[in-house]
Amino acid sequence: MATERIRFAQVSDIHLMPETGCRCWWMSESPRRQLEAAIAHLNQVPDLRFVVFTGDLVDQADPPSFQCFQEILSQLRVPYYLSLGNHDIDTLGRKGRFNRDQFVRWCQDQFPLQLAPTGYVDYSLAPLPGIRLIALDASLGRFPLPQGVLRPAQLHWLSEHLQSVPEEWLILLIHQPPFTSARQMDSVLFRKYRVLTEQALALHDILASHGRVVAVLSGHLHVPKMYVRDGIPYLTAPPLVGPISALRVFELDVNPRRGILRYHWVNLLELDPSPLWHGLVMGTRRDRWGEIPLRVKGSQSLPLPAAIR
Ligand SMILES: [Fe+2]
Ligand SMILES: [Fe+2]
Repeated sequence: MATERIRFAQVSDIHLMPETGCRCWWMSESPRRQLEAAIAHLNQVPDLRFVVFTGDLVDQADPPSFQCFQEILSQLRVPYYLSLGNHDIDTLGRKGRFNRDQFVRWCQDQFPLQLAPTGYVDYSLAPLPGIRLIALDASLGRFPLPQGVLRPAQLHWLSEHLQSVPEEWLILLIHQPPFTSARQMDSVLFRKYRVLTEQALALHDILASHGRVVAVLSGHLHVPKMYVRDGIPYLTAPPLVGPISALRVFELDVNPRRGILRYHWVNLLELDPSPLWHGLVMGTRRDRWGEIPLRVKGSQSLPLPAAIR
């Protein structure tokens, strides 16, 4: 049985802003320079197949920053796919900020995004044969509220949709991490920055039922994390915006029977002098490099979790 090697990358939390000199305390000086460095690096990665961006593409959901992002991304030599972060839209209709519809149209200029019938920025596409990429929108929209939520309609759609692609390997993009490990859920630090617990558990049950999950890729924390539950790898990305400026490269060895996921991070730029929380944003060694055997299950489905009935 032939095994295919697929290399792809994840970039997250760019927080692109106009070059005004105004910065939040947790940002480094030039997200634009960092995004350009990321694209230059990715263009040199051999056999890279595609890149996923897991939200907070811009900082203030403003059209000029989205335009700048798109201009820089036009230099990337491989396809890329975008998902929504809490800094990317504002549903209160405030002037000068994208709402969900504007965000979707902007994405559709760049890749074939066909919305799922959920009312949110959820989509599914196949970047390569046998690989399924699904993005879920867990943002509340009251800019930039950090809590993540998944609505019953989204979980229903995901559950039904996965049953129509039982043989495909799934990469799930969701900006707010749907942590379900006791260690991560008990962390006071991330309590307001993850998907609500009951919904995260319902999502996990759906993914476990599918049984061919390459990874659940999130951002939002600006801290790299990795854990595996029931053979499903959950990873949050290092931020591009600082105080480190890093991205992740993945190597997936896969065939219909088995899969192995390797990951490592690439630290792009030496930025500001290390702030106090530098140790936190570096994560542990396991958060930065590793190899995970993926679990393959039969395509039989588990009952729908009670939380979404
Ligand atoms: Fe962010
Ligand atoms: Fe975020």
